[in-house]
Amino acid sequence: MPEAPRPEAPTPGPMPSEADIRRLLALFYGRVRHDCILGPVFAGAVGTTDEDWARHLARIGDFWSSVMLRSGRYHGDPFSTHLRLPDLEPAMFDRWLGLFHAACDELFDPGLAGAFRERADRIARSLRIGLFDRLPPVRPPTPA
Ligand code: HEM
Repeated sequence: MPEAPRPEAPTPGPMPSEADIRRLLALFYGRVRHDCILGPVFAGAVGTTDEDWARHLARIGDFWSSVMLRSGRYHGDPFSTHLRLPDLEPAMFDRWLGLFHAACDELFDPGLAGAFRERADRIARSLRIGLFDRLPPVRPPTPA
């Protein structure tokens, strides 16, 4: 009898290799680092040296490996990380996604590019909603 799919099994569809992930992140973050809008936010949190960026890319590589390949290498909390960024603005997500989509399309066939883009879109949306689209408190604060 065929084995039932495990819940943690990778979702069907195009799968990148670890080398694909590294190539994508090198291209994308190479542009982010020098982007006039996103660059300063990253410079403040990641740093500006090649060593700082190598550390960041390793961490992000673990993240995408976990997302796309279910490798389980990432153990972090992107929500808290972004919550701590003082200059993050909602409009930056469009910029981020624009650069990410472009890098995917340049490197991969439409199927794999679409798989990366779709995951990024969903994560960006949930981050943005969690960080900026808070519901107002149920009761207004009591006047002092
Ligand atoms: C508005 C757009 C965004 C900006 C400006 C931004 C900026 C940053 C910065 C500056 C860091 C480094 C924080 C630190 O080291 O202290 C970071 C970390 C990270 N970002 Fe973003 N980000 C954005 C959107 C996204 C999106 C859409 C994703 C996922 C699809 C993402 C995934 C991550 C992850 C996984 C980390 C590492 C968190 C950790 O340290 O565990 N970011 N981001």
